[in-house]
Parts: sequence; C-alpha cells; structure tokens
Amino acid sequence: MASRICDSVLVTGSNRGIGLELVRQLVDSALRPIKIFAGCRHPNEPKAQELQELAQKHQDVITVVQLDINDPDSITKALKLVEAKLEDKGLNLIINNAGVNNKKSLADTGKSEMVQVFSTNVVGPMLVAKDFHPLLCKAANQFPHETSMSCSRSAIINVSTYVSSITLCPTNFSSAPMYPYRVSKAALNMLTRCLAEDFKKDGILVMALHPGWVQTEMGGSKAPLKTAESVKGMLEVITRLTEKDSGTLLDWKGESIPW
Ligand SMILES: NC(=O)c1ccc[n+]([C@@H]2O[C@H](COP(=O)([O-])OP(=O)(O)OC[C@H]3O[C@@H](n4cnc5c(N)ncnc54)[C@H](OP(=O)(O)O)[C@@H]3O)[C@@H](O)[C@H]2O)c1
Repeated sequence: MASRICDSVLVTGSNRGIGLELVRQLVDSALRPIKIFAGCRHPNEPKAQELQELAQKHQDVITVVQLDINDPDSITKALKLVEAKLEDKGLNLIINNAGVNNKKSLADTGKSEMVQVFSTNVVGPMLVAKDFHPLLCKAANQFPHETSMSCSRSAIINVSTYVSSITLCPTNFSSAPMYPYRVSKAALNMLTRCLAEDFKKDGILVMALHPGWVQTEMGGSKAPLKTAESVKGMLEVITRLTEKDSGTLLDWKGESIPW
C-alpha cells in the first residue's frame, strides 16, 4: 500500500489561489495527510470563506491557523497552536506559499514598495523556517534509522518563480520588468540554498518550486495554467523529492530551472 504524502503539513497563504488549491488537493488525495494546517492571515474575513467551508467539511483533518507572515507574533502564536495539535509528533512539511507581487517597474519602485514585497517574500519564509525548525527536527527524528530525505519525513518547500532566475533574466525581463518581485524571489532562492545547507545535518529537505504561470489574482486571467493543473503537478513533484533535490529550484513538472 502506498504511504501518505506526509502525516502533517502547514501551507501558508491558503485562503485563495495556489494555496487554497494545495489544501483542497491534499485533503482530497487518497494519500492525504492526517493533519493539514491552513495558514491564513485574515481567517474571519469574507476572502477566507471558501477555506473555512472546506475546513468545516474536513474538521478532522484541516485546522485553519491565523498566520500573517509579516507579523512575528502571529508566527509565534501559529507555532504554539500547531505544536499543541501535533501532540509531540513534529511537523513533516511546510509549504511557504504566501507571497505578493506589486508588479512595479523601476520607475514605480521606491523604498516602501521594495521593503513591503521583500518582507513578505523573504523575511516571512525565513522566520517561518526558523521558528518551526524544532518541529521539523522532531518530525525528522521520528525516523531514527532513516538517513534519506523526503517530504514525508521533513521538508520545506519555498514557492518561487521562473522570473527569480538570474540566468534567465535576459530572456524574460522585458515581458515582466517587476523589480521588487524578481529581486525578492531571487533572495528567496538564496534563502533556500542556505537553509538546505544548514538543515542537511537535521535530515530536513529544503527546495524551491515554481508553480508555472497560473490563473490566480497574482497570475491574472491570461495565464495558461489553472490552479488545479499546477497544484497536481506540484504535489507529484513534492511526493517524489529526495536528498538530491535539496537546494534546487524545480518547476511544477519537476524540471530544473537555472539559478
Ligand atoms: N500565479 C502565478 O502565476 C505564480 C507564478 C510563480 C510563482 N507564484 C507564487 O505562488 C505563490 C502563490 O501565488 P498565487 O498566484 O496563489 O497568489 P495570490 O492568488 O495572490 O494569493 C497569495 C496568497 O498569499 C497570501 N498572503 C499574502 N501576504 C501574506 C502575508 N503577509 N501573510 C500570510 N499570507 C499572505 C494571500 O492572503 P490574503 O488573501 O490575505 O492577501 C493569498 O492567500 C506566491 O508565492 C507566488 O509568488 C505564482
């Protein structure tokens, strides 16, 4: 019998777009996790209604967690709630999905536009990784004789983008001349490499994943991919990851993207 994707997972920014579809497909999977923590910064607002309805339908599996990755106190409170619900088992997987793109060109980018995007796309995922690290270690240690890495053991997936690639910038800059987004996601890639090196000793896999160009509020209506197709691919990639993938940037089909 195939094993679960993992026992427990936290998805940030899960009230809409790719994050909501991740929670939906995880809970619908035959191999679904036992516990899904759905991070959402405003769980009581109308834009969280779809997520709340899904959580209501699967009360035994989904816990909606207030989590604003720009707010260190919110991250600490979320950690405490998740820790209590896990009952000493540790957290297997974090999908750092929450992100913003103000789509600003150089002419439209001042300090505040840059700092706001950097805070969400880089500082937030870093604080989540740092604060939840003990829970990820605990999950990795549930497999005392296991030396290999996987998302069913312990992992962080940082949702990045192909426009983060410094190598590909000359080929795609003119179609998306967005300074804060490109620069912040390139920094998220470096965060991914640093964490992959740092957490190797703990048996925690860390990698960056590009979901494709997807029809969401961020991706817009001209995007070729629907969330269902992108997330199906992302979850297939996530399920197959091993230690050779730690510290890499892959796309939703599992193909490598150059740094
Ligand atoms: N769509 C694409 O074509 C595409 C391509 C490449 C990469 N990506 C990446 O994929 C991820 C998801 O994007 P998407 O297309 O689903 O975007 P989206 O539809 O705009 O959704 C973004 C999600 O992030 C949440 N979020 C933003 N700031 C947050 C914060 N401070 N704390 C917690 N949650 C926060 C939003 O919550 P609120 O509702 O509260 O704002 C929302 O749930 C992002 O990291 C994005 O960069 C997307």
